[in-house]
Amino acid sequence: RHHVISLADFTPAEYNTVLQTAASFQEVLSRRTKKVPTLQGQVVANLFFEPSTRTRSSFELAAKRLSADTLNFAASTSSMTKGETILDTAKTYLAMGTDIMVIRHKEAGVPNAIAQEMDRLGVRVSVLNAGDGQHEHPSQALLDLFTICTLIDRDRPNIEMLAGKKIAIVGDILHSRVARSNIWSLIASGAQVHLAAPPTLLPKLFAEYIYSEKTDILNGQLFLHWQLEPALQDADFVMTLRLQKERMTAHLLPSLREYHQLFGITRQKLQLCNSNVKVLHPGPVNRGVEISSDLMDDPEFSLIQSQVTSGVAVRMALLYLIGSGKT
Ligand code: CP
Repeated sequence: RHHVISLADFTPAEYNTVLQTAASFQEVLSRRTKKVPTLQGQVVANLFFEPSTRTRSSFELAAKRLSADTLNFAASTSSMTKGETILDTAKTYLAMGTDIMVIRHKEAGVPNAIAQEMDRLGVRVSVLNAGDGQHEHPSQALLDLFTICTLIDRDRPNIEMLAGKKIAIVGDILHSRVARSNIWSLIASGAQVHLAAPPTLLPKLFAEYIYSEKTDILNGQLFLHWQLEPALQDADFVMTLRLQKERMTAHLLPSLREYHQLFGITRQKLQLCNSNVKVLHPGPVNRGVEISSDLMDDPEFSLIQSQVTSGVAVRMALLYLIGSGKT
């Protein structure tokens, strides 16, 4: 694999390669030096056309831990403010010798368009999608998978561990590229995936399934709910999602108090779940909206900080596998 744009066609073997490579980098990160020379001389450019805290910083740190040189770009302080196009920006970074472009954009399809342009030019530049519009966020889903699997077995994470587990994905599914990538990886793992959202925050196609009373799809692995409770019942993991207010028109934005009452994850609602349930959130979090503030900070239930920590090892694995042409 040359680019990572989507998890739709990832195979179980590829997931396991990423998980096991990330586990070995997690071990490297626990050492005092924390660095390996693997990508020495390579250039990783973080081209972020949309804001980010954890994805951009952890890709940068991951590249540095692999001894690559890093370039950081933010659209707001770039020559795009003078009218330069996205493709010309990418070609400018290509001309500086970039080997891997990590791309985030508010429009779905931009990383793929840049990858196609690089292929058309016949250059060996890889593109990693760091989140494109409502489409996908592959590295987030891979770090979520790694966080869950390493909780089960820290040294030998593999995707088969999740077969039969019940995983609830709750909240603003409509706007969530994180949910879309997670659906691919979790379905590939054999897990039972339950989506719960208000009707306005589910993609239209999913809402039509619920109207037709066909709430289980994809061979009974994906379940759709307009209420939270059936999704939480006996769940092993709960992934809660941010309400993406910046992508909503005013008529779509729910009352935050009502949303928290109906779909916010609290200690009390977790009593419906398996007693060992853990809660994930990709961040950034609207505290007290999609998850109660106390639960978010409770290490007995919350994996939110572990997800951020996992992000560095998983992104090292992606950069290494792409950079050394081993996927
Ligand atoms: N989860 C995630 O993508 O966070 P950032 O927007 O801070 O990168």
